Amino acid sequence: MKYLTFALAKGRVAKKTMEILEKIGITCEEVNDSETRKLIFVNEDLKIRFFLAKADDVPTYVEYGAADIGIVGKDTLLEHGRNLYEVLDLDMAKCRMCVAGPKSARDILDSGKLIRVASKYPNIAREYFHNTRHQTAEIIKLHGSVELAPIVGLSDVIVDIVETGSTLKANGLEVIETICDCSARMVINQVSMSMEEDRIRDIISKLKQALKEGR
Ligand code: PRP
Repeated sequence: MKYLTFALAKGRVAKKTMEILEKIGITCEEVNDSETRKLIFVNEDLKIRFFLAKADDVPTYVEYGAADIGIVGKDTLLEHGRNLYEVLDLDMAKCRMCVAGPKSARDILDSGKLIRVASKYPNIAREYFHNTRHQTAEIIKLHGSVELAPIVGLSDVIVDIVETGSTLKANGLEVIETICDCSARMVINQVSMSMEEDRIRDIISKLKQALKEGR
């Protein structure tokens, strides 16, 4: 039997995914070892492999078939727009994609003037401002700590994920508009879906059941 390979977004998503997979009998002790620097783990009995990748890279591994299955946030999927089958909402790592900024930014948004938007998600930001809001926006790509941008005058607003809202609050910013809800999703490589259909469908249906029972 061929190995079925999972690519997991490193960190909280990977940890929570392993908890859910454990409930349906898919286990891998080593993944939970926080000391390890290993990136790939194997369950020989089940012929399943797991690897941990940067969230942004998970859709790439799955599209190219280096992984059959990926677990990654909807925010990352929207940003990268890869050709994958999105088969399941894992109902975890929930957050909202928002436009945020200082209170005063509401007026700039409503004025219809050129607005400067900083984001780790330039494609989502561009799509939202151009196609939904029909507003001219200059999108500035950042790699983290995006909340800084409106404070130091790099941008008028940011497009970012908000979970508890505490980062915004601590920096005197607020949600101005919600773009969409996000959570962790299971995605499948299109070829794997036909080649390994039975195994993959079995995992999906067991996961659905486990998620229902967990509610
Ligand atoms: C994310 C996001 C916000 C924060 C939101 O950043 O970009 O900054 O979490 O969470 P909260 O609403 O619960 O405060 P992350 O921790 O990934 O760090 P980064 O900004 O350096 O990428």
